[in-house]
Amino acid sequence: MVYEKRLKLAIFISGSGTNLQSLLDRSSDGRLSADVLFVISDRGDAYGLERAKRYGVPSYIVDYRKHIDSFRHVSDRIERWRLGYRQAEAEMLEIFKRYEVDYIVLAGFMRLLTPYFLENFKTEEGVFRVLNIHPALLPAFPGMHGYEDTFHYGCRWGGVTVHFVDEGEDTGPIIAQAVYPIFPGDNLEDVRKRGLTLEYEIYAQCINWLASGMVDIEKIEKGKPKVTIKDPNYKDIIQKWIALAFGKI
Ligand code: GAR
Repeated sequence: MVYEKRLKLAIFISGSGTNLQSLLDRSSDGRLSADVLFVISDRGDAYGLERAKRYGVPSYIVDYRKHIDSFRHVSDRIERWRLGYRQAEAEMLEIFKRYEVDYIVLAGFMRLLTPYFLENFKTEEGVFRVLNIHPALLPAFPGMHGYEDTFHYGCRWGGVTVHFVDEGEDTGPIIAQAVYPIFPGDNLEDVRKRGLTLEYEIYAQCINWLASGMVDIEKIEKGKPKVTIKDPNYKDIIQKWIALAFGKI
C-alpha cells in the first residue's frame, strides 16, 4: 500500500462537518495530498452537506433512519437495525461503483460500518482502507462522546486519535495520536475547541503520510496489524502538535 500521489477520498459525515471543511480547505490550497471525490451523510440535515456544496463536491444522503424504519414490521429491534444497516450499506456500495476511491475518511460519522461493507475495502496487510478520527486518547473513551467523557472523568490531558477502522467500535490499529492539556477552570467547550484544532492537523497529516507511503503496516499472525510511521521528521511533527495544543502556534 504505497502511494506517492494525491489520494482520492470519500468522506462520511453525520453533522457539522468542521473536519470535512478542514480537509476541503487543505485539499484546495495544497496542504493535503488528496482530493475529495464525494461526501456521504447518514442524515439530510447535516450542515457538512452545505460545506461540500460550497466546494462543488457531490454529496449523497444515505438515510439510515429511513432504512431502519422500512423494517418496522420486524418486531425484534436488533434485527430491524441489522436489516436497516445492511440496506443502507448496500446503497453506499452502489455509490462507490461510480468512483475509484483510495480511502474512506470518517469525519464525525456516527454509525458503525459492518463487515459486509468493510470487506470491500480490505488490503493485503489486513487493514481496511477506512480511516476514523476519534476525539479521545483511545483505547480510553470510545463511543460517541469522547470530549464529554474525557472532561467529566476529570482527565488532566485529553487526546485525539486517528486509526484504521476495523469491525469494532473505535478499536482499529492506531496511526497517530495527539494530546492537549486540560487546565483548571476549563469548561467542556474549551476542551472541545483545543481538541478540534488538533483533529484538523493530525487528520491531514495522517492522510499525507498515507499519500507519501510513510505508513508501514505489518501483518501480524495474531492480533492487530502494527502501524509504524516512517517519517524522518516524525519528532518535529509531534512537537508541533504539542505546541499547537498549548496555543503556541
Ligand atoms: C469530531 O470531534 C470527531 O472526532 C467526532 O465527531 C466530531 C465531528 O465534528 N467523531 C466521533 O466522535 C466518532 N466517534 P465535525 O462534524 O465538526 O467534524
